[in-house]
Amino acid sequence: MSRKRNGKGMHRRRFLGGLVGAGAALAATTTAVSLIALTDDKNKASAASVALTIPDLLTATTTNGVDVYTLDMQTGTSEVLSGVSSTTAGFNQSFLGPTIKVTNGDSVQMNVTNNLGADTTVHWHGAHVPAKVDGGPQVAFANGETWSPAFTVNQEACTLWYHPHALGTTAEQVSKGLAGMLIVDDDSDASAALPSDYGVDDIPIILQCLAVDNAGDIKYNLTGYQSSTLNFPFLVNGVNADSTTFTFAATKSRLRLRFLNASLSDIITIQRNDGSTLTQIATEQAYLTKATEVDSIRLVAGSRAEIVIDAADAATLDAVITTGWVRGGSGTYSFLTISDSSSGTPADLPSTLNTITRYDTSAFTARTIKLTQSGLNMGINGVVGTTMAAMKAAEISTTVGAKEIWTIANSTQLEHSFHLHDVPFQVISTSGTAASGVDLGWKDTVEVIGGGTVVIAMEFTDYSDDTYMYMLHCHLAQHEDEGMMAALMVTAS
Ligand code: C2O
Ligand code: CU
Repeated sequence: MSRKRNGKGMHRRRFLGGLVGAGAALAATTTAVSLIALTDDKNKASAASVALTIPDLLTATTTNGVDVYTLDMQTGTSEVLSGVSSTTAGFNQSFLGPTIKVTNGDSVQMNVTNNLGADTTVHWHGAHVPAKVDGGPQVAFANGETWSPAFTVNQEACTLWYHPHALGTTAEQVSKGLAGMLIVDDDSDASAALPSDYGVDDIPIILQCLAVDNAGDIKYNLTGYQSSTLNFPFLVNGVNADSTTFTFAATKSRLRLRFLNASLSDIITIQRNDGSTLTQIATEQAYLTKATEVDSIRLVAGSRAEIVIDAADAATLDAVITTGWVRGGSGTYSFLTISDSSSGTPADLPSTLNTITRYDTSAFTARTIKLTQSGLNMGINGVVGTTMAAMKAAEISTTVGAKEIWTIANSTQLEHSFHLHDVPFQVISTSGTAASGVDLGWKDTVEVIGGGTVVIAMEFTDYSDDTYMYMLHCHLAQHEDEGMMAALMVTAS
């Protein structure tokens, strides 16, 4: 399979204000937008080398066998646009948050203090936890308060993340910087064989494309995105990468990279600059059955993936940004050059990483989930979930033990990123084509193209609650805040 390459090596392009195939109504609201090519950064290759910033690993204090993690949600300033100070927010710092690493079976407690001056919540995206500690809008907590959810880690090794999830404020709070990586480790043979030394050979890569005006004000909604002076900076682990290719000197002969697209809506595709393949080992919820060569990895908002790369085969990685909403970033950024400072040769990768039993869905309960739009309002099954009452009106209710097959039907012309809380799902087919390759892996977030259909299957294991909801929604944070979100109640069978 060939893939499009611009054949320009380290050359990068930036464009302002790409309009995607938005519906007429949305496009009409952005008539001021035009395509203006900005200056090409032709001198980038000669720029001084800047080491990749790696988020701190958060240390727990252990009390009575419970690992307690402390997160302080705070405001600050950060240069998301080079040379311009922006008002931002983060966990324990002024932008983004530390990485939390837990192990399957651990008892953990998160002590989260809100010093944002506004209500918030924190959701553990992709975590299989009871609804009451999932961090949805029902557990929003006020400025000055501390929320202390406790749970037992109950899933396979994977790369998750954490971010706010209150009603109507997710885009604002995430775009200001409230996001961090959550790594789950386990005692599998694959985990033992794969790199796992955080910051040494196990490297988090949080990718974001933001919308920021010339004064540094971070934008997150339609009004904001209509600002005439928008820039769409690309950030790697919170640091502006518009004109910088970060460097990482590998001291181990094999690296593992964990990618997260923490953008509100833009799509980020990762590929090697030299045109050869990437070795993908995991989708969002688990290892693949085996390491798989892929030309590129396309991450919609909220998605993650993991690769391994041998230091001797070190590479420059490119991120291709595609506008995911009415406006957004675009262009190709060479964001990371890995150099080989290691000695020795890595052991062969295990021939098998995981066993994935594909669902026989013949007896599964079927549902259709329509992604809908009325005017500018995004909805699910026609209901715009911008209030708790509306979220309940669109509620999907099921029971523990239920096995279901859902057709996610995008009746809009817009791109969506469908995310399900609580349990992982398998992709059965995409617009009629059966899943294959890395799409056979366990996921929690999946791209649904305009007019497209994705069929997924899942089993609601373990946790029921009569009061607290999980959610299903579009992970384009603007769509989620505009109402493309519904409650998911899982009750006892
Ligand atoms: Cu990443 Cu419902 O969220
Ligand atoms: Cu959407």
